[in-house]
Amino acid sequence: MASSLITLSLLLSFSLLFTPITPSPSPSPSPSPYLSPIFLKNYNSMSANLRIFTYIPFNPFSFSSQAESLFYKSLLNSPYTTHDPDQAHLFFIPFSPHISTRSLARLIRTLRTDLPYWNRTLGADHFFLSSSGIGYISDRNVVELKKNAIQVSSFPVSPGKFIPHKDVSLPPVSTLVSTPVSASTVSERMLGFVGYGWVKGLSLVKELIEDPEFLMESEPPRTPSCYGDKLAKSDFCLFEYEGGDVSGIGEALRFGCVPVVISDRWIQDLPLMDVVRWEEMAVFVAGGGGIEGVKKVLRRVDGERLDRMKKLGAAAAQHFVWNSPPQPLDAFNTVAYQLWVRRHAVRYADRREWAQN
Ligand SMILES: *[C@@H]1O[C@H](CO)[C@@H](O)[C@H](O)[C@H]1NC(C)=O
Repeated sequence: MASSLITLSLLLSFSLLFTPITPSPSPSPSPSPYLSPIFLKNYNSMSANLRIFTYIPFNPFSFSSQAESLFYKSLLNSPYTTHDPDQAHLFFIPFSPHISTRSLARLIRTLRTDLPYWNRTLGADHFFLSSSGIGYISDRNVVELKKNAIQVSSFPVSPGKFIPHKDVSLPPVSTLVSTPVSASTVSERMLGFVGYGWVKGLSLVKELIEDPEFLMESEPPRTPSCYGDKLAKSDFCLFEYEGGDVSGIGEALRFGCVPVVISDRWIQDLPLMDVVRWEEMAVFVAGGGGIEGVKKVLRRVDGERLDRMKKLGAAAAQHFVWNSPPQPLDAFNTVAYQLWVRRHAVRYADRREWAQN
């Protein structure tokens, strides 16, 4: 374990040191969208080995958001499912999105007292789905769930309801149906495109409508399929992190429209944040300076960097697509990968266990 960590960090520092400065005499290989140089190797190991044990819920229920429903359905039908808890790397606790704090506390208490699995890690190898995330609640059982178990939520998650490095957010389900792009539209370039509802802040909307460099949709499109051309002929796609509709972000990546995420605070809950190089395929900018402020940041992105961002985005786009049934490397399987890399949970030492052993 220690030696493989050392190898990994050596590899990482090697690539950090050498990739940017080495001039490439031959055509360079296409840049990798992944943070880890061994992502595909780890992914393959995940798809061959991951085993998840799902507790049976007290009452039948369904999830309210599309991403959660798809994730839950995919999980129950996936090859990762095991009925043998001794084989499981991870334990999934399904509960209704409308559960009360009291019922949730009772559920965790039951798991803790009736079964041996929770106590082994105090819940750190357990995960749950909660679309909007769990806030701080004083009940001890719920606190343990929030602090130790992996929360899977819809992106974006409200402040205070997401614990970076532990929790995971689901890629949004795209509502766009994009058609192949015709060559003629690609030749007439736009600086930016803003789909209906992507930016909601009133002053930004007003500025965008008046700005000739942006194409802003102020009404829902008649047919969703006209988006493909608009994405492909625009260098940047604007999304507002708080309040805006971010469901088009995966399609923007796919069509080479670099996502520009407008947010006044640091974003810690991006989907697939520990898998893909978000910083190199999207632009993050504060909204305070208005559209001129945004444009100032965009003008600093030179042609070469823009090209690289588009390539990385297109290479990463498959990970944002929800399929039913799931396909290799798609949203469901990449979220499963994120769970897999979190499986080496810290096993908290329990005094009594020490005493017994
Ligand atoms: C788990 O630990 C709690 C004490 O924190 C204890 O009350 C409970 O009985 C334990 N559960 C099992 C199944 O041993």
